[in-house]
Amino acid sequence: MWFNEIINGAGLGLRTSFIEEIFEYDVKPDWFEFAPENWIRKGGYLKECFEKVRENFPVACHGLSLSIGSPEPLNMDFLKELKDFLDFYEIEIYSEHISFSSVEGKNLYDLFPVPFTVKMADFISDKVCYVQDYLKRELILENISYYQVIYKELDENEFIKRILEKSGAKLLLDVNNVYVNSVNHGYDPFDYIRTFSSEEVAYIHIAGHEKLSENLIIDTHGERVTENVFELLRFALKHLGKKPVLLERDNNIPPYKELLEEYKKVREIVQSYERV
Ligand SMILES: [Fe+2]
Repeated sequence: MWFNEIINGAGLGLRTSFIEEIFEYDVKPDWFEFAPENWIRKGGYLKECFEKVRENFPVACHGLSLSIGSPEPLNMDFLKELKDFLDFYEIEIYSEHISFSSVEGKNLYDLFPVPFTVKMADFISDKVCYVQDYLKRELILENISYYQVIYKELDENEFIKRILEKSGAKLLLDVNNVYVNSVNHGYDPFDYIRTFSSEEVAYIHIAGHEKLSENLIIDTHGERVTENVFELLRFALKHLGKKPVLLERDNNIPPYKELLEEYKKVREIVQSYERV
């Protein structure tokens, strides 16, 4: 798959809290991922730091505000800004979420689930095709965590598979989201992952969550990755074969040195499956 010619091994979500420290340590992530929305209009010193990272590492963009599941038309001003950004920094990999995050042009600053219906899968597929044509890039779509099923005609994995098949998009498989949803909605996370073929999956996300009770987990991205999620990552790599894996940490971010310790654990797992 062409993604592997750009990103390989284990990556780390780029945050401004440690962007200045990246070059200070011997351990360097294999690649970085960041939200384009955080950098499109950035200037000054932080922009210089960002450009140094872009010059020295493979990168992937992971968007937040495309809102592909909104009933309203795509925001063409945003798409144009995004395309200019991706073209300027020569970034080929762009992923988003199977969700909606805006209503009537207003950003909701969160990702909300869509109804799992054939009609919605086909509606999203058409929008994905448009975005792919416009950006001249293959879109990668992530399975989100959610706390309420809006309406269900298909199982979530079958819903996603239909979108991938109809649009040609690839999946960003977030194994933490699979785990969180499997507990909150009572399904088998291993069966969920088994649904997808290696051909369908571009890369993998892993992150931490907070367990509030036996059957309620909140997807915080603010804790260390739990052993249950590492187990699911190992299973996914065994099932799918070699895939790039990204450690996300968006809240409660520890000192960079401490984050690198967790990153090293992720990289060891990824490398152990690359040798298989
Ligand atoms: Fe994710």
